[in-house]
Amino acid sequence: MADLIQPVKGMNDVLADQSPWWAKVESVAHALFAGYGYQRVYLPVLERTELFSRSIGELTDIVSKEMFTFDDHGDSLTLRPEGTAGVVRAALSNGLLHNQQQKLWLSGPMFRREKPQKGRYRQFHQMSVEALGFAEPEIDVELIALSARLWRGLGLSSVKLELNTIGTAESRQKYKQVLVEHFSRHRELLDDDSVRRLERNPLRILDSKNPALRELIEAAPLLSSYLDDESRVHFERVEALLGDVGVPYTLNPRLVRGLDYYSRTVFEWVTDRLGAQSAVCSGGRYDGLVAQLGGRDTPAVGWALGIERIVEVMQAEGIGAGDTPPDAQLVAAGDSERRFGFKLVDELRERVPGVRISLGAPSAGFKAQLRHADKSGARFALIVGDSELKAGKIALKPLRDGSPQRLVTVEECVDLLRQTAASA
Ligand code: HAM
Repeated sequence: MADLIQPVKGMNDVLADQSPWWAKVESVAHALFAGYGYQRVYLPVLERTELFSRSIGELTDIVSKEMFTFDDHGDSLTLRPEGTAGVVRAALSNGLLHNQQQKLWLSGPMFRREKPQKGRYRQFHQMSVEALGFAEPEIDVELIALSARLWRGLGLSSVKLELNTIGTAESRQKYKQVLVEHFSRHRELLDDDSVRRLERNPLRILDSKNPALRELIEAAPLLSSYLDDESRVHFERVEALLGDVGVPYTLNPRLVRGLDYYSRTVFEWVTDRLGAQSAVCSGGRYDGLVAQLGGRDTPAVGWALGIERIVEVMQAEGIGAGDTPPDAQLVAAGDSERRFGFKLVDELRERVPGVRISLGAPSAGFKAQLRHADKSGARFALIVGDSELKAGKIALKPLRDGSPQRLVTVEECVDLLRQTAASA
């Protein structure tokens, strides 16, 4: 036998036993995005490498060690590690920001060469919402409230909001100097990663998960003491509006995020159900990014959720996918009966919009077909036996409520299934 081809490490197949959860996350999210006025875009998974190094930042973990990059006849291309840079690139390439605002959403695979573990994959899927051209704190909070509503729609209760503000690039610059001084004074306590970050990206040391550094990080000065006035006013308003719409949060002054393009509001929804990979949705303001990528100064804010992690939390919380069984399943044994039944199912699919109907197991015996229909969770079995065939009718057997079987015409069957499909 030929060797089996193995899947690529960290890249998963999502099979039919999992896909109902994905479908649920997608359908609840899609309805909310539309309700808030976000429009969907579909963008390439391959972009020029420079797009990510200039936006996410040369010194971040993502760009410095996690990108799938290759040379394409002299062009350096990269599989997108996240969606925001591509959304801004597309908005600029297509002239969508000339005196306009955009509320866009994106869904699809992202790629990072991370060490795979539960909740952390090399191909994973994000849904992200991006509001371009909006400076007001209302939009930060609208976006956060949208995510809170999404968790409620999915029945999630373990996800909690952590919030911070990291000010403008200028106020961060001052803070970075103070931070470098603090950590330099205790250089001997730092691990290799932090020493590397010290000169180039000191804020990221605050994000370190190394328990040996906890005390040192806790003793570090806070960014809030160096915040510029406008950022402070913006953040106070964000907090007040979150109170107005009743979204609880915890202030986390150490939350800095692992991508360089953020400014002002940053947030993460975290859960205690997934071990180390606790963030299920993260985002914030990125007021400088559009200009950094060659556009005019354009404020912006957004977030992205990881679909795998959301599905894992749903399952950890025991939330079902609300899998929808068929409305009806055919039961017809015998050649002519099967043919009549096959044509009937085709006609019902044509005439009853939205009906969920299954052919079942046409080659099995009559009793096995009936058992199969029952197990499928279908509401009705559409039985075609010898006498039904002769009469050109169908024996309609309710499978769930114990009411009696009855003989119906094709027209009556259409009417009944229309009612069933409409009430689903
Ligand atoms: P991020 O925090 O890098 O932000 O990723 C967003 C979410 O994607 C995370 O909260 C997590 O749920 C999921 N995620 C990230 N990496 C992995 C992985 N290796 N495996 C599974 N899930 C993962 C961004 O990507 C920003 N673009 C978010 C944003 C949008 N900010 C503004 N707009």
